[in-house]
Amino acid sequence: MKEVIGIIGAGTMGAGIAQVAAQAGHQVILVDQNQAQLDLAKANLEIILNKLLSKEKITSDQKSSISSAIQYEINNTSLASCSLVIEAIVENLTIKHSVFSALQEIVSDTCILATNTSSLSIASIGSVLKNPSRIIGIHFFNPAPLMPLVEIIPAVQTSQKVIDNVMTLIGAWGKTAVLCKDTPGFIVNRVARPFYGEALRIFEEGIADFATIDWAMTTLGGFKMGPFTLMDYIGNDINYTVTESVFEAFYYDPRFKPSLTQMRYKEAGYLGRKSGKGFYDYSENAAPTKAKEDIDLGQEILDRILALLINEAVDAVFMQVSSVEGVDLAMTKGVNYPKGLLKWADEIGLNEILLRLEDLQLTYGEDRYRPNPLLRKMVKENLNFYPK
Ligand SMILES: NC(=O)c1ccc[n+]([C@@H]2O[C@H](COP(=O)([O-])OP(=O)(O)OC[C@H]3O[C@@H](n4cnc5c(N)ncnc54)[C@H](O)[C@@H]3O)[C@@H](O)[C@H]2O)c1
Repeated sequence: MKEVIGIIGAGTMGAGIAQVAAQAGHQVILVDQNQAQLDLAKANLEIILNKLLSKEKITSDQKSSISSAIQYEINNTSLASCSLVIEAIVENLTIKHSVFSALQEIVSDTCILATNTSSLSIASIGSVLKNPSRIIGIHFFNPAPLMPLVEIIPAVQTSQKVIDNVMTLIGAWGKTAVLCKDTPGFIVNRVARPFYGEALRIFEEGIADFATIDWAMTTLGGFKMGPFTLMDYIGNDINYTVTESVFEAFYYDPRFKPSLTQMRYKEAGYLGRKSGKGFYDYSENAAPTKAKEDIDLGQEILDRILALLINEAVDAVFMQVSSVEGVDLAMTKGVNYPKGLLKWADEIGLNEILLRLEDLQLTYGEDRYRPNPLLRKMVKENLNFYPK
């Protein structure tokens, strides 16, 4: 029989992770301190499973075994039999500490304790445990049942056995598990920053408007959504906060500097789709915004944003946040980039990327554009990220 998996927090992420574990054949205990949230999670799962059934993605037997595999509980004491508990509650270190402190007294000594945090360090969360070698980050993406990527983040305290077990388990759930160092933003939320930040900067300088930048990144770059459409989709409040937290966590490195424009949109309540207006107007009678479809301008925009994204991907390898394959998998499976950034860099030519960055650094005199030392070294030695 498969192990029992516990999940604390039945919100957006917890409910999705519970579905993933139940679909993988586990018995799942889903805990939330709020009964209404548990009821909502149960009702939503029913809707999702009915949709999967009508699309013939699951059989009615599978539907009933997934539904009956999840037990909904209000109290953490019900988690005693679990071999893994994944915490997906509010993003607050003090509250997470109190949950983990109490949880370690409930579960067995061998139970792995995981957190789905997006922005807190795994080391800091694990510091309250008597045995911190069992803490690990298991970072799912939203929506968890659909997004293939899961970043696996050992803390400095985590044992190798815990890492191996979790990598195997998440792989068995049909997910792409990518190992990642316990650093701000992990892989995806770090490497993706220039997609938003440099697009905002290009707009602020008056080089192009939102629609033109989005057009360049989608039509010429092959990205599924342009940066401004995506920021509106994520929400300017959420997206700004992630950038700000990565910027602060990297001791104010200018590469991650948040944008005043986005701050003003957030302050104005122009949050994006959810508020009816963001960079674009989502009201019924809004006039469609037209891009200036100028190929030279579009290429300039794409080249600049892509050079910064690649520089960030190179930095993640240079600082051993993940491997070359890990970084490329993370960006293609976690945020649907059309190509791995390091593979893309090889195709464009590392020398060309270095030249673009040097040109930007010379033009602006800002550290934001400094080329990564690994990029310089690889150009000097005529190396590629993948075999030529
Ligand atoms: N939403 C995302 O896109 C996303 C993506 C990846 C990771 N995360 C991370 O996942 C975690 C959860 O995020 P979310 O968006 O699902 O939040 P959410 O607000 O949708 O859900 C949080 C749930 O936790 C419950 N809760 C809070 N304190 C609790 C406690 N002490 N015991 C039991 N239940 C408690 C709340 O009632 C709520 O139902 C956060 O750490 C977040 O950073 C979120």
